Amino acid sequence: MPEIHVVQKHNRHLYENHLDPYFRLRHDIYVKQRKWTALDRPDGREIDQFDTDDAVYLFCLDRGQLIGAMRAVPTLSPTLLSDVFPYLSIRGPIQRPDVYELSRVFVIPERRGEHAGPRIETMLLTAIMEYGISIGLTGFSIVLESWWLTRFERCGWKAHPLGLPQMMDDMAVLAVLVDCNEATWRSLCRQIGRTGPILTWQGLSGVDRQLLPDISLLHSPNVQPTQ
Ligand code: COA
Repeated sequence: MPEIHVVQKHNRHLYENHLDPYFRLRHDIYVKQRKWTALDRPDGREIDQFDTDDAVYLFCLDRGQLIGAMRAVPTLSPTLLSDVFPYLSIRGPIQRPDVYELSRVFVIPERRGEHAGPRIETMLLTAIMEYGISIGLTGFSIVLESWWLTRFERCGWKAHPLGLPQMMDDMAVLAVLVDCNEATWRSLCRQIGRTGPILTWQGLSGVDRQLLPDISLLHSPNVQPTQ
């Protein structure tokens, strides 16, 4: 089963071998495949102004190979919504300690879709919900293409539009706020066949976080509260 690792400024040194491939993969996927040419850089790495010390990454690793990832940036720091697409939010960009902005979700082409195990993309959506609850978030803001909405609906993510969609390169793009809560996380755990937390917090024992429960125990008759 692939593992999903939290990578941030305090443990980044443990993932040095993965960081360069990560930024190169982003270049392959977003610049070469998706043709987001504004992100092109001559060094073949897709790195932008939001890849700062504040950024948190989820790396999905399978036997050491990076097969998918996602980025989360605190909304008290500059974000895509505040600095690049502020017009997508009618009431202005969200800037709150309990909301992070998600971006750069990807799975390498060979691992997309259904395989023997759960969809890697659904594992990432489960893992980021776990991350959010663990550090006390209540939501995620996202600038996304509208095709995500049906996918979110299907997996149980509740996305609230922050403004009207705008056409960009023939694609409807909008900003949403997604609820981050334990009910959604539990539902996702069931979808991917897991009964508890999946995140690996290597080198992050100092991070103050809430521990999530084993949901199979919550449903077991043996752990009903005593009268
Ligand atoms: N435009 C429209 N629909 C898209 C799409 C796109 N650019 N990318 C994926 N989809 C749709 C597919 O049509 C497919 O729908 P279907 O199952 O009804 O045929 C569905 O999403 C599944 O996509 P697929 O790529 O097969 O598998 P996945 O669910 O494992 O992975 C992503 C989804 C988005 C993680 C993966 O497609 C990816 O890494 N894409 C490149 C990175 C990217 O564009 N990320 C989003 C912006 S940050």
